[in-house]
Amino acid sequence: MRSLLPLLLSLCLTVKSLPVNGYDDLEPQQQQLNQMNAKPSSTPKQIHSHNDYWREKPLFSALELDITSVEADVWLSPETGVLLVGHKSNDVKAAQADQKTLQSLYLDNIYNILEKHNSYTSQSSPGPNNTDKAERGWNGIFEYFPNQTLYLFIDFKHNSEDTYKAIQSSLEPFREKGWLTYHNETSNTTYEGPLTVIGTGETPLNLIIEEKFQRDIFYDAPLHNLNETFSAYNNKVSIFASSSIKKVMTCNQGISRVASNRGLDDNQIDCVLKAINQAHELGLMTRIWDTPDWPLAKEKIVWSQLLFLGTDYLNADDIYLARSFDTSFVRGTASGAVPLLI
Ligand SMILES: *[C@@H]1O[C@H](CO)[C@@H](O)[C@H](O)[C@H]1NC(C)=O
Ligand SMILES: *[C@@H]1O[C@H](CO)[C@@H](O)[C@H](O)[C@H]1NC(C)=O
Ligand SMILES: *[C@@H]1O[C@H](CO)[C@@H](O)[C@H](O)[C@H]1NC(C)=O
Ligand SMILES: *[C@@H]1O[C@H](CO)[C@@H](O)[C@H](O)[C@H]1NC(C)=O
Ligand SMILES: *[C@@H]1O[C@H](CO)[C@@H](O)[C@H](O)[C@H]1NC(C)=O
Repeated sequence: MRSLLPLLLSLCLTVKSLPVNGYDDLEPQQQQLNQMNAKPSSTPKQIHSHNDYWREKPLFSALELDITSVEADVWLSPETGVLLVGHKSNDVKAAQADQKTLQSLYLDNIYNILEKHNSYTSQSSPGPNNTDKAERGWNGIFEYFPNQTLYLFIDFKHNSEDTYKAIQSSLEPFREKGWLTYHNETSNTTYEGPLTVIGTGETPLNLIIEEKFQRDIFYDAPLHNLNETFSAYNNKVSIFASSSIKKVMTCNQGISRVASNRGLDDNQIDCVLKAINQAHELGLMTRIWDTPDWPLAKEKIVWSQLLFLGTDYLNADDIYLARSFDTSFVRGTASGAVPLLI
């Protein structure tokens, strides 16, 4: 209990300093961001850039903030076999016209960065403390965190099996370079590379399980349902478990929305904590999406509760808010019920 005290205290302080209305002005946030950009961050950020391709600079807006997880929604074009990036099926024609593809927005850029970071001699490698490249075999995307992998979530929107095959083959150049995280079931070993690909949405779990030698697309496990459907979620098939907050917090048939600006109630907290703990026991990291985004005070309270309960990645539509928030908040691992917040 004693070790929880500083966390509780910092939580109270955070809570206390939150604005009371939802119209928090953007200016201080922008200032904070400018300050952040002025100095390198001390750690890579466990933030997930949700719908990343909507940002001003897909991929790069997140990378500039040292955000280590991005997500793209992908449609396989039936005519051309190209992997188009868009949210809804009717965005796909536009994506085709604008040439917004998985290749052009993500894979080419990631490949180019990795090629650049790995073409240096060991003395002039990017990043200040890069003594261990020889052992690891690669420098990652993040200049100051050369051992950090980038998580690329690919949301399969339809046509699971063909999409899987198309993604498999578009990853081949990374595979050849040893740049993909993979699990070899035959030797029971996992290799971590600078790029870790996770399939979400309509990703075909059966095809992922069939990969026995080099499983390099992982399955985003259902955080709210880790006991059902497939009883063997583990860190060889999945690296993350994710769900909407609604699905996670209703395990006790509680209310399915965050009713109060004080955040999750006791019943909801209990469900979230159970799910996070179960995922951690299976060796999985967690991400909870569709958290309230208005008013701002509620958004921040829920984020701080989730971090306090030990969630690993903050799912963010507003990455700037998440980034400024994350720097000021201490992550915790609650081992029991959390008292209802002020
Ligand atoms: C890198 O190494 C230097 C000198 O050993 C040290 O002062 C600095 O804090 C290290 N930086 C990081 C990001 O670990
Ligand atoms: C990367 O290296 C740093 C400093 O040596 C270490 O603290 C950190 O745990 C490493 N991260 C990963 C993902 O291996
Ligand atoms: C996987 O492990 C098997 C058995 O040790 C080995 O023959 C195979 O080369 C490995 N594959 C990869 C891609 O590491
Ligand atoms: C695979 O390796 C892990 C440790 O990395 C070990 O705990 C587990 O028992 C091994 N599984 C099998 C089937 O050998
Ligand atoms: C899932 O199963 C484990 C082990 O059987 C159990 O401890 C846990 O309570 C179950 N979780 C849920 C959410 O039912």
